[in-house]
Amino acid sequence: MPKSDHPKVAAADHDVHELIRHRWSPRAFDPARTVSRADLLRLFEAARWAPSSFNEQPWRFVVVMRDQSLAAWEAVTASLSPTNRSWAAAAPVLVLASIRLTLERTEQANPLAWYDAGQAVALLTVQATAQGLFVRQMEGFDHEHARRVCDVPEGFDPIVMMAIGYAGDPDTLSSDKHRVAERTPRRRRAVGDFVFENTWGRLYQREDA
Ligand SMILES: Cc1cc2nc3c(=O)[nH]c(=O)nc-3n(C[C@H](O)[C@H](O)[C@H](O)COP(=O)(O)O)c2cc1C
Repeated sequence: MPKSDHPKVAAADHDVHELIRHRWSPRAFDPARTVSRADLLRLFEAARWAPSSFNEQPWRFVVVMRDQSLAAWEAVTASLSPTNRSWAAAAPVLVLASIRLTLERTEQANPLAWYDAGQAVALLTVQATAQGLFVRQMEGFDHEHARRVCDVPEGFDPIVMMAIGYAGDPDTLSSDKHRVAERTPRRRRAVGDFVFENTWGRLYQREDA
């Protein structure tokens, strides 16, 4: 986990678990530090235990490790948008997350597949934090290109690419904007902006506030 005085550690208004405060999404990855299969399997084990509608578990992951298959890694990297490629190329692991579009039980459309996969990835990111690993998710990639190079079958759709690895030196980032962002504290809406009591818009607060 990052040191407590790291600028990315959440300045939480309410007491939350350290893993939640310390999770953040870097762009700078250490290209020299690979991630072992055993460590990656622990991340997917965390994803495995996520809740899902009808316990359908509609998420699927294709893991591409630079140190195991440079060709596969380069093919997947080529699907990234140029901006994402500019930093993600240093990450030792890329993971393509996909969803099953229909329910296994009925073969009807599963409108909750995205929701479920998001929960699985959220657990994965928290487990990564516990292991000293970092994850940055990306929507900016060519989905059809990724489908082709990862051989994602019909009935499944790629949804997000993840860069996984150990945090690196922000000064290695090629973009000025990204170097600044890498050191800028994370900002969030206040809890009072999105949690209401009884009716929408009615502030939810501590009794003793
Ligand atoms: C579904 C999703 C798509 C994202 N796509 C990108 C992306 O294409 N490029 C990028 O640099 N970051 C991307 N991000 C990272 C977000 O910008 C980041 O999570 C957000 O700014 C909050 O920062 P934090 O994760 O450090 O708290 C994405 C995150 C999610 C969850």
